[in-house]
Amino acid sequence: MTQSTIRLGVAGLGRAFSLMLPTFLADARIELVAACDPRPAARAQFEKDFSASVYETIEQLAADPALDAVYVASPHQFHAEHARVAARHGKHVLVEKPMALSLDECDRMIASCAEAGVHLIVGHCHSFDSPYLKARALVAGGEFGKVRMIHALNYTDFLFRPRRPEELMTDEGGGAVFSQAAHQIDVVRLLAGSRVTRVRAALGAWDPSRPTEGAYSAMLWFEDGAFASLTYSGYAHFDSDEWTGWIGEMGNAKDPENHGAARRRLRTLESPGEEARLKAAGTYGGPDYKPPAAGAAPGTPALHQHFGPLIVTCDRADIRPLPSGVLVYGDDVRQHHPLPAPAVPRFEVIDELVAAVADGVPPLHDGAWARATLEVCLALLASGREQRDVVLPTRA
Ligand SMILES: NC(=O)c1ccc[n+]([C@@H]2O[C@H](COP(=O)([O-])OP(=O)(O)OC[C@H]3O[C@@H](n4cnc5c(N)ncnc54)[C@H](O)[C@@H]3O)[C@@H](O)[C@H]2O)c1
Repeated sequence: MTQSTIRLGVAGLGRAFSLMLPTFLADARIELVAACDPRPAARAQFEKDFSASVYETIEQLAADPALDAVYVASPHQFHAEHARVAARHGKHVLVEKPMALSLDECDRMIASCAEAGVHLIVGHCHSFDSPYLKARALVAGGEFGKVRMIHALNYTDFLFRPRRPEELMTDEGGGAVFSQAAHQIDVVRLLAGSRVTRVRAALGAWDPSRPTEGAYSAMLWFEDGAFASLTYSGYAHFDSDEWTGWIGEMGNAKDPENHGAARRRLRTLESPGEEARLKAAGTYGGPDYKPPAAGAAPGTPALHQHFGPLIVTCDRADIRPLPSGVLVYGDDVRQHHPLPAPAVPRFEVIDELVAAVADGVPPLHDGAWARATLEVCLALLASGREQRDVVLPTRA
């Protein structure tokens, strides 16, 4: 079958949706035909913006015969149920990271999609970003030998963005491990190209008013002998985009003078309820909603999205994915492999979705792939809490 347009329904019109919106608007292969969200303001905005159907529940959305696929962008704790409902109605599923909160949920999602004969793709995740895919292709080319070691680092204001109370509780899916390690682990696994066998992690939850993990450091060991270190801090002090030429996660130019903005904004609030209201006001459909910056500022070259400084050490080169391409520091030469500017941000997600739905190409970021990333996230939490190495089981 070849199908040039995917008719997409969206479950959850929050921040994830607004980050994907520039992609959906600019990519002719996507037609936004319906959405569901319990927030009336979000539904009204979507109806107005797209002259599309809106529903209160996933059941109603998934039953809409006009859809080919559902983009599940609801909070983590709903991913499993929403994916299963979509599959039951014969819709392909694109579900945001993290895939779910437990491996049992992942297994049920995979089984439901397989039974229904629909594709399950987990994304957007930063491992879709072209510089990482290019670095992976360079490694796979074999010229530089085996991957031996990877270091990944990211310092952001993650913990100090406006949150609902449950987003600050790890057991409800809150914190840096479920939301941010899900990206970093996925990128590192993609580049290592081998199964994670063992994890050792330390977790940081240092602010009693925001009691979930805001930071972690982890060592991962891979089946082929490679190892990786991952460090993340969301405590809104240093911003590691400074080490990526002030190009932010979305490929956008960032202003260093904005230092401290996230903390300053929170300081003006008096209660968790007020914070939740601030978040809702700034979310799609809310009175203070502003579309997020995507791509470069006007007049500057468009750059790729990324998830912080990262370096891959191979036998014969160190390789650095960058927003502009990939730098290779070989035995004798240092070489920049530039990437064409992305005309559509996150087009890679649509490439994978269309290839799967229209041409039956098995997706890279399928359920089994994302389950393995969640398994490492859960191992980070167990290792940090129990202060021990966690050995991951081999799957039959
Ligand atoms: N890939 C990325 O860059 C990225 C960025 C942000 C969030 N995410 C992921 O997207 C998911 C949503 O996060 P967010 O930051 O957008 O959260 P959010 O709180 O901003 O938005 C969630 C939206 O889902 C709606 N919702 C709540 N319950 C629902 C239900 N039962 N059915 C349908 N909609 C429902 C909410 O009203 C809200 O509009 C999370 O899993 C998160 O990890 C991914």
